[in-house]
Amino acid sequence: MSSPNPITATLIPGDGIGPETVESTIQILDALGSPFLWDVQQAGVAGIDALGDPLPEQTLASIRKHRLALKGPLTTPVGGGFRSSNVRLREEFELYANVRPAKTLIPGRFENIDIVLVRENLGGFYVAHEYYIPVGDDPKAVAVATGMNTRASSKRIARFAFEYALKNGRKKITVVHKANILKLLTGIFLDAAREVAKEYEGRVEMDDMIVDACAMQLVLNPWRFDMLLCTNLFGDILSDQIAGLVGGLGMAPGANIGENAAIFEAVHGSAPDIAGKGVANPISILLASAMMLDHVGKQDLANRLRTAITDTLNIDSVRTRDLKGEATTKQFTDAVCKRLSSR
Ligand code: NAI
Ligand code: MG
Repeated sequence: MSSPNPITATLIPGDGIGPETVESTIQILDALGSPFLWDVQQAGVAGIDALGDPLPEQTLASIRKHRLALKGPLTTPVGGGFRSSNVRLREEFELYANVRPAKTLIPGRFENIDIVLVRENLGGFYVAHEYYIPVGDDPKAVAVATGMNTRASSKRIARFAFEYALKNGRKKITVVHKANILKLLTGIFLDAAREVAKEYEGRVEMDDMIVDACAMQLVLNPWRFDMLLCTNLFGDILSDQIAGLVGGLGMAPGANIGENAAIFEAVHGSAPDIAGKGVANPISILLASAMMLDHVGKQDLANRLRTAITDTLNIDSVRTRDLKGEATTKQFTDAVCKRLSSR
């Protein structure tokens, strides 16, 4: 089905399970009749293979032009090697807000989870200004990392979270920090959030929690949380944790939002352990594409897509292996397409 008013967006298939989950998503979006036309570009290891660069200039130019992208996961070497293309993309387009919802779609260990995590996406320890200090004959005797949060960037992400709460009917934001130990680095984040919260008094509540206590509370009583507002590193960690509350990384979408561009992706990585086997769960990037539809004002299509996914999971009982089902990526994809065409 083609849409009367197409919207061109960059499509990055990515690495590992990226291409197979992205292919599934495109097939389903076509069955839905989404407005997106795709400008396919490479990045990550696929970028190195195709163009000798993990973040090729033509990929950046495409995003600059369309200001909208759907991106598969990109592999980043551990320890040494090139810098994360994911982090570089967020920096290049100043995508300061990372929105990561976790919502129960299937019965599991926890029922009725509905948490939206907002992560500051550019600062904190992710600036990764790191160096070694030599001692004696060991040039790498001491490793040092510097983190950075500015008052302005902390207020900007806090304001984003409060505005998101208003627009989406959310009642409470819990600011997550470690201001008892990292008194300045995460203290400035907490102070800025408190300041911004005053503007929203009576409309959106705010409280705060130290990150380690928050990690435990998320397991003991996750229902007490509505929205979490986190610094970059804590947001990274806790977004995998809340994905675990709703069935795992196969169920976790994310949006990287800035003033001039937005990139939608799964929370998970390239999953090298299952890549190429045709068993990956495509729901994370599929739900990210639903967020992308919301972003361009196509809430009706986004809701239809989300309903087709939950009906496929719960009425048709078609589920991939990570959800204790037996379906392959392709079988799940075909089942969602069938749902969409049966209306
Ligand atoms: P991962 O998220 O790729 O995988 C963790 C575990 O979850 C694995 O057992 C994997 O099989 C499983 N898993 C993840 N997504 C799944 C899905 N859709 N269906 C079924 N099972 C799924 O994390 P890992 O292994 O730590 O990282 C692999 C690579 O991905 C690294 O190079 C890392 O830097 C990169 N990465 C990229 C991200 C991005 O592009 N935004 C985010 C996180 C990691
Ligand atoms: Mg992560």
